[in-house]
Amino acid sequence: MSRSTYKLLAPAKINLLLQIVGDQFDDNGRSNGYHELVMIMQSISLADQIHLRSLGVDRIQLHCDHPQVPLDSSNLAHRAAALMMQKFPGLSGVEITIHKQIPIGAGLAGGSADAAAVLVGLDLMWNLGLTQTELQSLGGQLGSDVPFCLEGGTALALGRGDQLDFLPGLENIYVVLGKYRSLSVSTPWAYQTYRQQFQASYAKTPAEQDARRHASGSGSLLKAIAQRDIAQIGQRLTNDLERVVLPAHPQVAVLRQTLQAQNLLGVMMSGSGPTVFGLAESAATADQAKARVRAAIADPDLELWVAQFCSHGIRLL
Ligand code: C5P
Repeated sequence: MSRSTYKLLAPAKINLLLQIVGDQFDDNGRSNGYHELVMIMQSISLADQIHLRSLGVDRIQLHCDHPQVPLDSSNLAHRAAALMMQKFPGLSGVEITIHKQIPIGAGLAGGSADAAAVLVGLDLMWNLGLTQTELQSLGGQLGSDVPFCLEGGTALALGRGDQLDFLPGLENIYVVLGKYRSLSVSTPWAYQTYRQQFQASYAKTPAEQDARRHASGSGSLLKAIAQRDIAQIGQRLTNDLERVVLPAHPQVAVLRQTLQAQNLLGVMMSGSGPTVFGLAESAATADQAKARVRAAIADPDLELWVAQFCSHGIRLL
């Protein structure tokens, strides 16, 4: 039975690994503007809440309690509803209310998580019975991170980030996150700047790309994940985009160093940044690290959170 209102939880993600293999090519061998990646993605308990309400009229209404979130079709959650209405015409309109906890422009896939929640919610509201594969395919049309956000947990992600291999969940790992409220990084800017600076070193042929994937740090990190060896996981965190984001934003580099000076198991930037995170084995260690970073950087613009790894993506509340 479908209902006229749904509440969904949309967790953020961090990247335990993000390595750039080279340009992605279409079937005609032309670059399509994306990068071939090797990533390991992890959902965390920092999450938005999405409320959906069926509207009699064929319209999308978007509300959000965060003043900087756009409420028009530039919002990925709005685009998700528009895509669903285009694919399944004649169904109801929808009012979407986003209760924002995940910071925006942060490298934590907040917008992608909200879009994933709209796909899941409308599938239920309209009683469509879409399969996970169908939802993933719709998600891929919205953004590279949306397919991961649907299912969540821990996954190896290849291609542009949408070829997913889900791994057994990691639990009881805590994460301290820091981000300057007023600082956001545009994902296209991060990838374009990386391309300008490092394209000469990109793998050029499919064979070279394959070799690069095999030589990536994913093998040893996957082994550490399989063994649930948190110390090794912490040591093997990698993010190629740090090479362009940290030099452009020295305050993020300082925040990273400050986190690194704490008793944490590994520190890294997530996605295209500028959020940096550190891993901890206990909530107490994570809380202590957060308090020490707060004491070391007395800037009210700095926001800090403690969250936990979680083994799910979009969930009904
Ligand atoms: O897929 P999404 O819309 O999130 O990507 C935003 C931008 O990030 C793309 O337009 C592209 O510039 C860059 N990107 C990339 N390679 C990827 C994913 C994103 O170059 N695998």
